[in-house]
Amino acid sequence: MRVFGKTGNEILVLALPGEVVSQGEYLLIEDGSSRSKMVVQVFNETYLDVPGLAEEIVRDQVMQASIRGAEHDPYEIKSVSSLIRDSRLLHCKARGIIKNGKFRTSHDWLPSRVNSKVSKISLKELFDTVGRQGRRAIELGKGKSGEDFEILAETIDGRLNIITGKKESGKSHLAKMLSSSLVELGCFVFVFDINDEYASLDTKKNGEQSSISSRMVRLVPGESMKFDLEYVGLRSMTSILQHTLDLPGASLREFIRIWEHLSKEDQLTMEELGQAISMWRANDFVKDALFARYHTLLSSKLFTRGGERSIRFEDVIAKSPKGALIVISLAHIPPHARRIAVELMLSKLVDLLEHRKIPPIFLFAEEAHLYLRETHWDDIVTRMRHFGIFTTFITNQPDALGSGVYRQADNVFLFNFTNDADLELISKATTADAETIKAIVRMLPPRSCMALGKVVSDLPVVVEVRESELFTKGETRLFFAREN
Ligand SMILES: Nc1ncnc2c1ncn2[C@@H]1O[C@H](COP(=O)(O)OP(=O)(O)O)[C@@H](O)[C@H]1O
Ligand SMILES: [Mg+2]
Repeated sequence: MRVFGKTGNEILVLALPGEVVSQGEYLLIEDGSSRSKMVVQVFNETYLDVPGLAEEIVRDQVMQASIRGAEHDPYEIKSVSSLIRDSRLLHCKARGIIKNGKFRTSHDWLPSRVNSKVSKISLKELFDTVGRQGRRAIELGKGKSGEDFEILAETIDGRLNIITGKKESGKSHLAKMLSSSLVELGCFVFVFDINDEYASLDTKKNGEQSSISSRMVRLVPGESMKFDLEYVGLRSMTSILQHTLDLPGASLREFIRIWEHLSKEDQLTMEELGQAISMWRANDFVKDALFARYHTLLSSKLFTRGGERSIRFEDVIAKSPKGALIVISLAHIPPHARRIAVELMLSKLVDLLEHRKIPPIFLFAEEAHLYLRETHWDDIVTRMRHFGIFTTFITNQPDALGSGVYRQADNVFLFNFTNDADLELISKATTADAETIKAIVRMLPPRSCMALGKVVSDLPVVVEVRESELFTKGETRLFFAREN
């Protein structure tokens, strides 16, 4: 391979037919006269386009079609010519420079076009020069040249992550692998499971119990997850009434009075709340408004009644000191109950974190736009992260994530997108250059993703996500599958 040219920060490398390099791989350009080596990443491939080549191809075709018989080619011009015609230009992005064995992002050096040597550099060699911080490895899968690639759990800790790509591309599989690996490392992971597919992580493919099965808890809002009003607290309750149930200000003030009255009398239950609203002296509009909300709360079944036990997240966590995967199953919950449940959970978790009653947690949220209210996006990204909720959003609709989310994201795992609008949005929103993203993401096969951000020290890496020994099958019920 040879350096062929440069435009902007795009380096062109000439590769002969035998030199196979694929999109996403890294190359090292060495120049005998300097101690610096340039690191470039291949993002696209085209045929070599030299003047006269097209004419030659056409002439060759015409000759083949018209003259049959032996060809006389004593100087083997033909094979040289076909080598040229099959040569490819690798379009590469300069990523940085390795000097004295250390990588740094810099583009201020241009290698010689005549003397430089171009070779492949493995991900291991590359990341050894980067010097990644951390020691808790999570095996992610295989790089383009078949080598194993791992990420460090420390680069997900405290971060905001996005996993996106079109349907069936392997997003949930990656999310399951990351979440179960974090649990194995002792972390506390909450999952908003919209398709009821995470519960199967307690089983291995061969039917045995998985290593995390004893640390898994499945909570179904309205069934195994109910709250008593004392635990919910006035702050979370007013937030739900105001944001999720749109209770007007005047009625909210009355509600707070009723709550405080019940609290003083030590009668804070759903039954007493209903009674108190009907007995309360207030105008009819206010009472109607309160009653409507009260009945919505009742029908969500999220609140304990007559002797039912309330969930306490601090107890769930304390019971599993070596880490836990807490799956909140939202699949069969009606939308309004979903929103209330999520709102309650998040505000309770923030409350517990604020008072240091639980350690920081990881949150995996599948298709979050289905249950997260508009104003929560910024909150999750800023305030909640500050308190210790580290979120990973998983979605096949990239435009459904709030606009600030991409800008704040530390890590993005991009699976295939072919839709131009989606590609445009993603390439604008993430830190890597648009050209690389558009060219590579469009060509990604299923199960492969491009990792961007802190996990890869800002050097985009294409990985085929590994299989998992856990039972990670996505749960899509099929009509024809019933027959066997
Ligand atoms: N890396 C992988 N290895 C093995 N199977 C995978 C891998 N990625 C995805 N799958 C399988 O492909 C199917 C679709 O993957 P899934 O993660 O559910 O897609 P998505 O969430 O993007 O719609 C699932 O049956 C899943 O088990
Ligand atoms: Mg999925």
